[in-house]
Amino acid sequence: MKTIIEPFKIKSVEPLRFTSREEREAILKEAGYNLFNIQADDVLIDLLTDSGTAAMSAHQWGGMIEGDEAYAGSKSFSRLEKTVKGLTGFRHIIPTHQGRAAEKILFNIVGGQDKIVPNNTHFDTTRANVEISGAEAVDLPVPEGLNPTLIADFKGNMDLDALESLLQRKGPEQIPLVMLTVTNNANAGQPVSMDNIRKTAQLCRAHGIPFFLDACRFAENAYFIKIREPGYEKKSIREIAREMFSYADGCTMSGKKDGLVNMGGFLAVNDDQLARRARNILIVTEGFPTYGGLAGHDLEAFARGLDEVLEEDYLTYRIRSVSYLGKQIDQLGAPIFQPPGGHAIYIDAKAFLSHIPPHQYPGQALACELYLCGGIRACEIGSVMFGKTDSKSGEFEPARLEMVRLAIPRRVYTQSHMDFVVECIEAVFRKRDKIKGLHMVYEPPVLRHFTAQFESL
Ligand code: F0G
Repeated sequence: MKTIIEPFKIKSVEPLRFTSREEREAILKEAGYNLFNIQADDVLIDLLTDSGTAAMSAHQWGGMIEGDEAYAGSKSFSRLEKTVKGLTGFRHIIPTHQGRAAEKILFNIVGGQDKIVPNNTHFDTTRANVEISGAEAVDLPVPEGLNPTLIADFKGNMDLDALESLLQRKGPEQIPLVMLTVTNNANAGQPVSMDNIRKTAQLCRAHGIPFFLDACRFAENAYFIKIREPGYEKKSIREIAREMFSYADGCTMSGKKDGLVNMGGFLAVNDDQLARRARNILIVTEGFPTYGGLAGHDLEAFARGLDEVLEEDYLTYRIRSVSYLGKQIDQLGAPIFQPPGGHAIYIDAKAFLSHIPPHQYPGQALACELYLCGGIRACEIGSVMFGKTDSKSGEFEPARLEMVRLAIPRRVYTQSHMDFVVECIEAVFRKRDKIKGLHMVYEPPVLRHFTAQFESL
């Protein structure tokens, strides 16, 4: 059969609230043209993030009731620990309330002044946690990963030549670990090949430097390896994931993505000393080592989610439904980052609204237009998020790319929701010449995309 269906039926529903265009115009103006300021109830289809927005299964909800809320030695933690050890092979599993808490603990220990942390591309919280420790976060994506129109299988890969040259110059005194983000979220959700994971690990080993995965979307990455990398066609997703983790010395994980839960994360390591230090920090900042920052019921749902995410029917549907959205948008002639990634479609706003210069925020203007058209909430990843105004010269430094991310929550929306999104994009694309840029009227000092305010030009 050529139709890939949702491999589930729906037992519990959450109604959507429809608004009129006039209402949305008023809501958007009131929100200062910043979609983070809009109430979720005023959004029809929420594609702001795929993080913590998954629909849990009946099996996970059943587990919520069974969650063991013991402060120490919770059965639910034992189940999570067993599941993660089975999947990753790591010796120490340290639960945290979400991914960035694991990053905070890790870089608190290994970061610091004069240290350098290479990554294929740091996600923004990872970068922030590296930098807060005093270390420098260096992105080393492969050059083809930076070309939005090029079709290639593994555009999320690490640039191995650049990594080798950095490791030779700086060595283990300055580089406490190398990280690889799978899939590469900050680079349009593009996957990393097994070959690249293996070779990154070999380089690290040759220089005596630990190698970590940022494993938030490990299952989606494993599925891409299965369908794209020769030699993996017949392997199960679990076997592929197991091999990915086998090359690493540890990982950070946000369960809010491929853990299929609304809250949860962990830090996993092999090194006993590192684990001991991490647990000492954990007790101060997150909680006792058998719950981290989580309730027993969260641990239970997380353990079950990590099994469900490996089901091939689920991953086939997941990756195909994201690519379905990408193909429909592409067929309109609207420019997207190619090929579609694992969890999101990234519209190339610079090409979509080529008449709007970067300092008038084409990505933000497009995201606002999608909201006005159909109550769709997307996320700008461009000059609002990464652009800077030089404090001395007052000159504007734009971001490298102007993107709008349509992140797809897991198991939440159906194909007709996606068809509706495509229809909106089509309507906006047809009138693109009439869309105006934005002027930033309030610029917060850090992470400005969350609270910046705009006016329409
Ligand atoms: N690493 C990656 C690659 C991520 O995408 C995220 C979160 C984190 C780490 C941090 O995890 O949110 O549990 O603390 N990404 C979300 C997003 C927020 O919308 O892409 P967290």
